[in-house]
Amino acid sequence: MASAMSMKASPVHPPKITTVKALVESTGSSSIPSFYNFTPYLRDEPIAGDAEDSVPIIDISLLVSGTPEQQSQIIHQLSNACSDWGCFMVINHDVTESLTKAMIASFQEFFDLPEEEKKEFQGNHVMDPIRCGTGFNPSMNKANYWRDFLKCFAHPEFHTPNKPAGFSEIARDFSKKNREVIIILLKAISKSLGLEESYVEKAANFELGLQLLAANYYPACPEPEKAIGIPAHYDHGLLTTLVNNGVSGLQVKHNEKWFNVNIPPNVLFVQVADHLEILSNGKYKSIAHRALVNNKATRMSIALAHGPALDTVMRPAPELVGNEGDQPAYVEMTYRKFLELQQTGRLSSKFRSDTEQSKAV
Ligand code: OGA
Ligand code: NI
Repeated sequence: MASAMSMKASPVHPPKITTVKALVESTGSSSIPSFYNFTPYLRDEPIAGDAEDSVPIIDISLLVSGTPEQQSQIIHQLSNACSDWGCFMVINHDVTESLTKAMIASFQEFFDLPEEEKKEFQGNHVMDPIRCGTGFNPSMNKANYWRDFLKCFAHPEFHTPNKPAGFSEIARDFSKKNREVIIILLKAISKSLGLEESYVEKAANFELGLQLLAANYYPACPEPEKAIGIPAHYDHGLLTTLVNNGVSGLQVKHNEKWFNVNIPPNVLFVQVADHLEILSNGKYKSIAHRALVNNKATRMSIALAHGPALDTVMRPAPELVGNEGDQPAYVEMTYRKFLELQQTGRLSSKFRSDTEQSKAV
């Protein structure tokens, strides 16, 4: 039902509403407030057709229990996936479909809590261990994103909201199982770079690594071509794992074109993030990606960012910096410093030569 409010001219300022979910539920409008209008050129960029290349698939069970030949074959595939695409689909892993479904259902219950109850977990600072909110990014001072989120630090300390019932147990299990997959991948990735298998884990002090569990909630949007869920960005950790509720919307940039990524059930979608790019001295590239919205169904995604320890200085592996007077391609700094600079928009343009920005956590 269109309320009187929705018939008025769209407000110029952010609506006095805490989440996109509440906005959609309160107005039932067929248009979106102008504050959610995102620059239209976004969708003018070339989109790949379905028949083009597809994202590489990695059978992780062969890394764990395959023959030595199978293992080196997968390591070779990982090397190509990380250098050519910067992302891949992991199959035959141990994050069960039922656990993923339970995690998605539990996040849904969280987003369904009354707005007042969610406010308790709002948080403000990038280092707050629990933060929920909506897509407004004050530092960019641009459009609102069509997305609500909840983010929790899951490692080295585990934090989650104390509701809904059962959420914390499921989140703990889900984060742990994803982390186990990542540890297997980091060993194989180290080898694929010609380094010893625990190299990346040691260099990133992964035992104390920051793991961030984030859920994105994108309500169906009456004007999906005007809004954006999350604009193009790079993730900041070493690797990100991503699952969703069967509703598509993710796109990755490959060879200057945007590819739609449909993540099948039982697949973990893995993205190379900034700190693997730094460690590998640019051999592996963090992938640009974004989330579009649609007018049919609510989309939910769960992203786990697996990063270095916050106070470990991250730099390109000296073994990967050429010895003929080459310079490391990235300056050294702690992950904490990187996040702080990114959050305040002061991350050196040297880190990234094009205009796209890494995403603030
Ligand atoms: C993210 C992200 C994409 C998606 O949370 O960093 O890129 O598909 N999400 O929701
Ligand atoms: Ni991302």
